[in-house]
Amino acid sequence: METKVVKICPERVADFDRELSEAAEIIRGGGLVAFPTETVYGLGANALDSTAASRIYNAKGRPSDNPLIIHISDPDGFERWCEVENKEALDKIKADFTPGPITIIQKKKSIIPDTVTAGMDTVAVRCPSNPIARRLIELSGVPIAAPSANTSGRPSPTKASHVIEDMMGKVDMIIDGGECEVGLESTIIMLKEDGVTLLRPGGITKEALEERLGEVKVDKAVLQRLEEGEKPLAPGMKYRHYAPVATVIALKGEDSRVVEFMKKALDDEGTGVICYREDLIENGRAQILGSREDKREMAHRLFDCLRAFDSMPNIKTVYTRLPDTDDIGLALVNRLIKACAYTVKEL
Ligand code: TXA
Ligand code: MG
Repeated sequence: METKVVKICPERVADFDRELSEAAEIIRGGGLVAFPTETVYGLGANALDSTAASRIYNAKGRPSDNPLIIHISDPDGFERWCEVENKEALDKIKADFTPGPITIIQKKKSIIPDTVTAGMDTVAVRCPSNPIARRLIELSGVPIAAPSANTSGRPSPTKASHVIEDMMGKVDMIIDGGECEVGLESTIIMLKEDGVTLLRPGGITKEALEERLGEVKVDKAVLQRLEEGEKPLAPGMKYRHYAPVATVIALKGEDSRVVEFMKKALDDEGTGVICYREDLIENGRAQILGSREDKREMAHRLFDCLRAFDSMPNIKTVYTRLPDTDDIGLALVNRLIKACAYTVKEL
C-alpha cells in the first residue's frame, strides 16, 4: 500500500483543512490514518466500522484480545458511547482534565463494535487536546479508534519519524505534526459506581486525580509483575512493551555507584545506557533521559531514548536510571519496568 505523508503545523491547523479533509475522507472510507496527539501518535480508523478497526490490528500485529481506545472531539461522547455509572465523578473529570491525556473506561453502548473492544462489555474513551487530532475527529464525523501507532511491542511513537519507521506501506496516510508534548500514553481510569481505579498512569497524575476525586485505587499491574493466571484490568498491560531489541536493566542505588557502574559498562561496545543529564556521561551509546529535576522532560524523551538503541548496531544490554514514582514518575517507572521486564539491579 502507498502511504501518503502529510506535514501539518499544530499551531496553524485552520490552514490545513484541505489536508485534514482528505484524512477524514480516508477514515470515513474505512482506511487508516496515523495522527499526532498530545500523548503519542495514534493509528486511527472509524470506530463504528468493524472492518476498519480490524485493519488496525493487522497493521500493528496487535493481539486481538487487546481493545482499542476511541477518540472523540466533543466531551459529550463520554456519555454518548457509554453507560454512565458515576456521573458525579465523570463531570468532575470532564471539567478539570478534558480535553487532555486521560482515558475513561465505562460500560459500552451496543453501537460500538466488538472488534474495537475486543469483546469486552466496556469501552475506553478519550478526548485529546492536540488540535490536529481534534480537527481530524471533527471532520471525520465519527469517533476514531486509535492505539499507539507503533508495531506491537515496540516503544510508542512520539515523532513522525517513529511512525514512518513502523507504519510506512501499512497505512493510507501519516500526518506529521511534530513531537508529542507529553510523550507517554494517556492515563487510563476505570469509572464505576463505587469509585475510580487507575489502570495505566500517564500525564494526568494519580495525585491530581485524588485531589479532585478522593481515593484512587491502583491496579496491581501498574507496578508489579502478575502471577500466572492473574489478569490486569487493561489487557494491554500484560504484554512486554515499550522495549528495544536489547535487554533493558534498571539500576537502583546510590548516585555515585550508578554513574560509576554505567561508565564501566560502556567499555563494552554492546552496552548502552539511559542516564540523567547531571550524570555527565558522554558517550554515543548514552541516551540522556533529561534533567534529574524534570520528570516531564524525561516523559517527553523516554520512548525516543528507547528507540534510539534499535538503530545502533549490536546493542545487547541497556542499563537505565529509574526515577521515583511521584507525579508523572509513576508513569515513567511503569513504562521503564515493563521495558525491563521487571529486571532491577540493586547496586
Ligand atoms: O495516549 C493514548 O492513550 C494513546 C493515543 C493514541 O491516544 N493510545 C494508546 O492506545 O495508548 P493503546 O492501544 O496503545 O493502549 C490502550 C490501552 C491498552 O492497554 C488496552 O488494553 C487498554 O487501553 N484498553 C482499551 N480498552 C479497554 C477496556 N475496555 N478495558 C480495559 N482496558 C482497555
Ligand atoms: Mg500502545
